Amino acid sequence: MKTYNVAVVGATGAVGEEMTRVLEQRNFPVHRISLYASQRSAGREYLFQGEKIQVKVLNDDSFRGIDIALFSGGDEVSRHYGPLAVQSGTVVIDNGKYFRMDPEVPLVVPEVNPDDVKEHKGIIANPNCSTIQMVVALKPIYDAVGINKIICATYQSVSGTGREAIDELREQAEAIVSNKEVRVCVYPHQIAFNVLPEIDVFLDNGYTKEEWKMVEETRKIMHAANIAVSATCVRVPVLIGHSEAVHVEFSHPITPDEARQILQHAPGVKLLDDPTISLYPQAWPASGTDEVYVGRIRQDASLHPRGLAMWIVSDNIRKGAALNTIQIAEHMVEKDWIQPKE
Ligand SMILES: NC(=O)c1ccc[n+]([C@@H]2O[C@H](COP(=O)([O-])OP(=O)(O)OC[C@H]3O[C@@H](n4cnc5c(N)ncnc54)[C@H](OP(=O)(O)O)[C@@H]3O)[C@@H](O)[C@H]2O)c1
Repeated sequence: MKTYNVAVVGATGAVGEEMTRVLEQRNFPVHRISLYASQRSAGREYLFQGEKIQVKVLNDDSFRGIDIALFSGGDEVSRHYGPLAVQSGTVVIDNGKYFRMDPEVPLVVPEVNPDDVKEHKGIIANPNCSTIQMVVALKPIYDAVGINKIICATYQSVSGTGREAIDELREQAEAIVSNKEVRVCVYPHQIAFNVLPEIDVFLDNGYTKEEWKMVEETRKIMHAANIAVSATCVRVPVLIGHSEAVHVEFSHPITPDEARQILQHAPGVKLLDDPTISLYPQAWPASGTDEVYVGRIRQDASLHPRGLAMWIVSDNIRKGAALNTIQIAEHMVEKDWIQPKE
C-alpha cells in the first residue's frame, strides 16, 4: 500500500489538532507526519501513532519531501505558503477562506462534489463550516427535486473562531458566575450568556462575510449558480457544534416524509426526527462525532407545498473542517490521483 508524507500546518490550533487526531483515527496511510505552527508553539509535542512528534516552525523549506499538506494556519499563512508548497510538488488542502472562490481551486465536500478534486492545480479548498453541513444535508434532496431558494439562520459555536475564543467563553462564563469582571478580547462584545449577529467582517451590502460565504460557496459546491441564498450568521455561547434553521424552496413539491426517505440513505447524514420524544439534533451530543444531523423536518407554512423547514447540526471542527479535509485526501488516495514522492 502507498504511504504519504503529510504535513499539518497550524497543528496546534483547534482545527490542526483535530486533523492530526482524525488522520490517526481513520488510519490514513501516513509514512511520516510533520507538524508546523509559528514560533509561539515550537517544540510542543503531540502523540501520533504512539510516537512523540515535535511541532516545528513553519518556513519556506518546510514542504520538501511532503506529499500532502493540510493547512489551517489562517489566511496569511495560506497566501504565503500555499503557492510555495505547490512549487515543491505538494498537494495543499486548505481550510481557510483565501482560495475558496478562486476559479482555479476546487471547493470540495466529498459527499457532494468529490470529483471536482480532479481539477486541482495543487490547491484544493475546504469550504466554510456552516456551508459544509448545509450542503451535505441539502444535496440529496436537491438531486431529487431541485432548489430555488435557501434561507438560513445559523447558531455557530465559538470554536469556529479558534482556540482563543474557546478559552474566552470559558473564562467569561467563570467570571460571570463568580461575580468577577468580564474581559472581552476576541469578539466585539461579551459572548458568554449572549448572542452576537456578527461573524467575520461586515460588507457594503449589509451582510457579513460569513453570510456571503454561504451564498457563494453553496453555489460553487453544488454547481448551481442560480440558487438564491440568504443567511444570517450568529455566534452563540456554545463550545463546539454549529446549528442551522434552514428554510428551502424546492423546484418541485416534496413532503417531509419524502425528504426523510431521501435523507435516511444520504451519505454522511443522520436523521434525528421524532418530536413526540423530543428527538432532534443538538450541538452538545454532536460534538466529537462525524455526522451531519437533520431533524425538525416540516412543511414550511409560507412555501407550501414546495417548501420545507429543517434543523441541521454538525461538529464544526470535525465535519466542518478537519474531517472534511481528510476525506478529500482519502478520496485522492482511493482514486490514485496522488503519488508519493519517495
Ligand atoms: N475552527 C473552525 O471551525 C474552522 C472551520 C473551518 C475553517 N477554519 C479555518 O481554519 C484556520 C485555523 O482555524 P483554527 O480555528 O484552528 O484557529 P486557531 O485555533 O487560532 O489556530 C491557528 C493555528 O495557526 C497557527 N499559526 C498562526 N500563525 C502562523 C504562522 N505565521 N505560521 C505558522 N502557523 C501559524 C497557530 O500556531 P501557534 O500555536 O504557533 O499560534 C495555530 O496552530 C482558519 O483559517 C479558519 O478560518 C476553522
